[in-house]
Amino acid sequence: MRFFNLPPQIVRLILLIFAILVSYLVARTLLTPDTFRDYGFFRGAALSEHISQHKPVFAGKAACGERHPDVLKTLAKGSHKNLSCEACHGVVSQEHLKDPANKMLKPTPQICVRCHEASPSRPAWFKQIIVKDHYSDTCFECHLPHQPNEAP
Ligand code: HEC
Ligand code: HEC
Ligand code: HEC
Repeated sequence: MRFFNLPPQIVRLILLIFAILVSYLVARTLLTPDTFRDYGFFRGAALSEHISQHKPVFAGKAACGERHPDVLKTLAKGSHKNLSCEACHGVVSQEHLKDPANKMLKPTPQICVRCHEASPSRPAWFKQIIVKDHYSDTCFECHLPHQPNEAP
């Protein structure tokens, strides 16, 4: 057998390379998982599998609002409208949802300071105070936590 007068060892080499290529392509088609490269060089489904293994910690604002519609409504009126309840009341919301006897955290002024203490790393539009110069540290006496622009 002679192709284009090539020496037989070259023909064998070409056939070998061709066989390697074909088996690579067949293996690639058969062995690549379905969701590979959906998002990047990994199996897309690995993300949802990983997420579903973890139980959510937060119940979410909607779940809180079902039991406390009044608070949800009040919160929506003020400048804290975009905060989640758990930002202040802590992460025990799943347990609290199952059994209200598992109390949520009672927030202290420490929680306000965590967001509002002046810091150059915060955006300029964000209202910040220098806590030691700002009246006193009993924030709730003058600001309603659910409606911070209102006084009690
Ligand atoms: C900015 C922080 C903050 C956010 C956000 C927040 N709370 Fe509160 N909440 C507080 C503080 C502080 C108190 C306690 C006030 C006190 O001790 O006088 C409180 C008290 C409460 C109380 C006790 C009764 C009452 O009305 O005073 C309930 C119920 C409550 N919050 C539910 C919610 C729910 C539901 C959400 C979300 C819709 C929410 N809170 C969002 C800070 C917050
Ligand atoms: C998770 C972060 C966060 C926490 C915790 C938080 N705030 Fe705020 N606060 C905000 C955001 C966001 C705004 C709206 C943006 C703004 O006005 O700077 C705001 C606005 C305010 C304002 C301005 C109200 C206005 O309309 O002028 C006051 C006062 C205030 N918060 C007080 C408090 C007090 C008191 C607490 C504690 C009960 C608290 N905040 C806890 C994020 C937070
Ligand atoms: C004695 C009452 C009083 C107390 C206590 C108090 N505030 Fe205020 N706060 C005010 C008043 C009045 C204003 C409105 C303008 C001003 O004087 O800065 C204000 C304004 C603010 C603002 C908006 C600042 C801005 O740039 O507009 C934030 C945020 C704030 N307070 C957070 C807090 C936090 C957090 C605490 C607790 C550490 C607290 N306040 C304690 C009375 C008080």
